[in-house]
Amino acid sequence: MLPVNKKVLTLDEFTLQQLRHIPNATGELSGLLRNIGLAAKRVNVEVNKAGLVDILGDAGSVNVQGEDVKKLDIYANDQFTGVLQHGTSCAGIASEELDDFVSFDDAENKNSKYVCLFDPLDGSGNIDVNISIGTIFGVYRRVSPQGSKAVKEDFLQAGTQQVAAGYVVYGSSTMLVYATRRGVNGFTLDQGIGEFTLSHPNIQCPDFGNIYSVNHGNFFQYDQGVKEYITACQKKNKTNGGPYTQRYIGSMVADVHRNLLKGGIFMYPGTTDKPKGKLRLLYECNPFAFILAVAGGRATNGKERILDIKPTELHQRTPMFIGSKGMMDELDTYLTPGN
Ligand code: AHG
Ligand code: MN
Ligand code: MN
Ligand code: MN
Repeated sequence: MLPVNKKVLTLDEFTLQQLRHIPNATGELSGLLRNIGLAAKRVNVEVNKAGLVDILGDAGSVNVQGEDVKKLDIYANDQFTGVLQHGTSCAGIASEELDDFVSFDDAENKNSKYVCLFDPLDGSGNIDVNISIGTIFGVYRRVSPQGSKAVKEDFLQAGTQQVAAGYVVYGSSTMLVYATRRGVNGFTLDQGIGEFTLSHPNIQCPDFGNIYSVNHGNFFQYDQGVKEYITACQKKNKTNGGPYTQRYIGSMVADVHRNLLKGGIFMYPGTTDKPKGKLRLLYECNPFAFILAVAGGRATNGKERILDIKPTELHQRTPMFIGSKGMMDELDTYLTPGN
């Protein structure tokens, strides 16, 4: 039971309060974030009953990246696309599940300043076994003129151009976390009233933690520097900031969410089989790189900031190292030649 005088702020009220002080604010970004909250609530309902209805398992098709598509991937993709299309705050979308970007035709959409890129369901291999999954999104101001249809260049912007980014974790609680340059804030879904309410104001990523998250099964496929860093993590003891704990759920959203709150480092390095790793720059890496940067952490591909990479393809992949600033600095000493 909440104390009666506790200040309760819903996602919508918080966003309006935050954004209305910005000069020339039109309310469009608040509208877009509200729409994302709505789509997240719809997906949450389906995720919660995934064990009950015939929505489990492969949808029987393969997405543009050669992966089996689960039914909930498609459902989530349709919800996020539909809600943004029927709102007035988004000129177009690109999604992990769609071959190409979609520019919306309605005059109100064409007048919008923003485009949204998302991974509608992240960690979808975990659905069948009741483990946390998520949604990831990034919002950009379009480079094409308002009033026209969104074009490919609107979607191929460096991550540093994001105006907002966030994620939803469908976990033991469902949370929506989003960042603007003003800060990172987390909202927990109150299932009773169907509202995301502010539960984690002004999230800061601790400079150090003791968690490292990586797929150890790929160890012998990683570069020498990555192997050496992972080995150093395992050797940590009381005298040098350890011991470290290894945690890897296999849902990036859940892994990075935990490390953001507790301090830690998450890695999906390139492998000999897949030199660019697995994660998608536009739908997964850029939003988290933006969130962590605002929260005081950082993200690299091992050579440069994720946020500085100029994308050339919608579905391009990149190695990714992301987490607490102090831990990332230590990682650099293993990855940077000459150090
Ligand atoms: P998606 O379900 O959107 O395709 O992404 C899954 C990703 C990510 O969430 C996770 O960190 C990673 O795949 C796990 O991959 P491995 O099983 O290769 O470690
Ligand atoms: Mn996928
Ligand atoms: Mn994903
Ligand atoms: Mn996905």
